Amino acid sequence: MNDAVSYEQQGAVGVITVANPPVNALSHSVRAGIAEALTASAADDTQAVVLCCDGRTFIAGADITEFGKPPQSPSLPDLLVQLDQHPKLTIAAIHGTALGGGFEVALTCNYRLAVNTAKVGLPEVKLGLLPGAGGTQRTPRLAGIPAAIELITSGNPLSAEKAASMKLIDRVVDGDLLAAAMSYAEELAQGDAPLRRASALPLDISGEDRQLIEATRQRLNKKTRGEHAPQRILDCLLAAGEQSFDEALATERSQFMACLSDPQSAALRHMFFAERAAAKIDSLPRNIEPTAVHHVGIIGAGTMGGGIAMCFAQAGIRVTLVDMSDEAVQAGIDKIAGNYAISVKRGRLSEDQVAGFMANITPSSRYSDLAEVDLVIEAVFENLAVKKEVFAELDSICKPGAILASNTSYQSIDEIAAATSRPESVLGMHFFSPANVMKLLEVVQGAASSESVIATAMATGKKIGKVSVLSGMCYGFIGNRMLRHYGREAALCLMEGASPRQIDSAMEHWGMAMGPLAVGDLAGLDIGYKAREQLSEAQKGDPKTYIIADRLVEAGRFGQKSGAGYYRYDPETRARLDDPVALEIIDAARGELGMVPRDISDEEIVDRLTLALANEGARILEEGIAQRASDIDVVYCYGYGFPRFRGGPMHNIEARGIAESVQRLREFQSTLDPDNWQIASLLEDLAASGAGLADYRRD
Ligand code: 3HC
Repeated sequence: MNDAVSYEQQGAVGVITVANPPVNALSHSVRAGIAEALTASAADDTQAVVLCCDGRTFIAGADITEFGKPPQSPSLPDLLVQLDQHPKLTIAAIHGTALGGGFEVALTCNYRLAVNTAKVGLPEVKLGLLPGAGGTQRTPRLAGIPAAIELITSGNPLSAEKAASMKLIDRVVDGDLLAAAMSYAEELAQGDAPLRRASALPLDISGEDRQLIEATRQRLNKKTRGEHAPQRILDCLLAAGEQSFDEALATERSQFMACLSDPQSAALRHMFFAERAAAKIDSLPRNIEPTAVHHVGIIGAGTMGGGIAMCFAQAGIRVTLVDMSDEAVQAGIDKIAGNYAISVKRGRLSEDQVAGFMANITPSSRYSDLAEVDLVIEAVFENLAVKKEVFAELDSICKPGAILASNTSYQSIDEIAAATSRPESVLGMHFFSPANVMKLLEVVQGAASSESVIATAMATGKKIGKVSVLSGMCYGFIGNRMLRHYGREAALCLMEGASPRQIDSAMEHWGMAMGPLAVGDLAGLDIGYKAREQLSEAQKGDPKTYIIADRLVEAGRFGQKSGAGYYRYDPETRARLDDPVALEIIDAARGELGMVPRDISDEEIVDRLTLALANEGARILEEGIAQRASDIDVVYCYGYGFPRFRGGPMHNIEARGIAESVQRLREFQSTLDPDNWQIASLLEDLAASGAGLADYRRD
């Protein structure tokens, strides 16, 4: 047919094979090739046609790179009308992952057969979309409304067995898929099996189904706050029960088009590619091979070290967890066991799985037990002198070639490396708390870190389920360096007159997982207070940025741990409550510095906080600390609760318009403290030239 699709007659069965690496996406050539093959099959003397794929997977969906470009015929919906009306038996033979438009192709075939390792799903919601080629209509007709709600609103894939139990797959096989598909096709043809079309199945929506749709609407209003696609999916599922197939298909199409032109989908598609781009390091030679990591040492069995140990243990990698004394390391092990016990209680893990994970962790109070490990991650107290001592000792103990990583959030990797005789083996691996939950890993490259060490750290991150982002060396690396500017503006908005509730609500309504002051209460206000005690007045900076936090701590309000901080916390429910006492302290602190509170709009709060982030992000980019703007977006979405549907701080200003963002920055420069609003020259340049952030690379 063409390079991407072939058609071959094998006796009574025609075989359409898609070969469009890497994931057989439904690019134009694939759609055109399948259409041509169907026409050929309709005209020859076969009785059935099998649709299968070469390579690692069945069709993994529409070609996401084609979205937003001029449409090319045949469209996927048109192709699926042709497939639906095909005059002969159609059978999808599935291996790998049949996702999105790929699964919609399979659902349009009369019968579906899959190898037992295959997975199927409709993940469009994760891209801010909904299944736009009949998925919201055929799924409920085959599997019922409740199953369709779960599959389509979660976007999570199903195993072949599970899909078969839901009537979405007809037969699960083991071994040679094509051979099994051929005999299934012959069996169906000889048995005069009907042309079973999901489009012709009746769907009687019950009162319970309607209630479930409504209840899901309410639940997702909270869980996926601010996102449009989940609600539109529910509209389509309701239409499936209330309209004819063709009418409901038209409803689905218009809802799909609404999603496609929604900036939320552009942001989520940006994040899909950003996550994959982050794994690529432009400066590394293509042939560089990561070294194998079979055994990891972790120093420090506190919350961080324990969480990191869990990540490795769950990935099947042996861990030696070291702390100062047997008691300290046992306390760490007990905490890990406690975390796992909660997961078992909630049904997320089985006792056997937990036993396997725990067996991968060996406690120790001796550094000498780290002599043979491939990688050590130090997660001790955040103090440079202590870290240097640890690394000097590791240098004398660990085998040549072992990678020595620090989980520091701020300290200089170069100074830590200088405490060893092998700075090329030293780098930062910065996890985010809780380390067993948060997906982000900042891999911090020191001046001497070798290419192989960087490649291994990136690959190891992937192996333990993290999204790894490379950062150059600077104070706070990518994430925490930017956070200081965000936190500064939150503190200043508070000082200038906004309440904690207004600031947090404005940011949460905009999409942040948690507002900045609530995050402060969660992390503990005493931590920043103690850190400031070590600094000179000059180092502490403008008192307006910390006096309120200081006064709260001095009043014994450390945040959630003491029951009160910017808010008061219900001791039973932990609910965040406004607290007149906190408001009085805040007001008194304003008075101390002679500040007269003013009204601040929610829009100003959101703009100040998000633009402060992006402005510092642009500096990080022009200094070459981050490789590309999208890496910064990955850091913020995976490490700091930035809403994925806004695409990260850099995509957010790109979508808003760089010139408009620079204009707003100029307004802040002239109305607020100009020292805080020095505009990154990269943004000025891009605003002047009209070029985009996405393509910017430092020479
Ligand atoms: N379109 C275009 N490119 C795609 C793609 C797609 N649907 N899916 C994957 N790719 C690209 C990736 O960007 C990557 O490119 P790169 O090598 O240049 O970075 C390459 O294929 C390999 O992808 P992964 O690195 O993700 O490979 P994995 O083996 O880890 O995962 C996968 C494979 C599970 C298929 C995963 O790629 C995936 O989840 N893909 C997206 C599936 C999806 O969302 N499908 C729905 C699309 S929307 C749709 O179908 C709308 C319809 O309803 C009308």
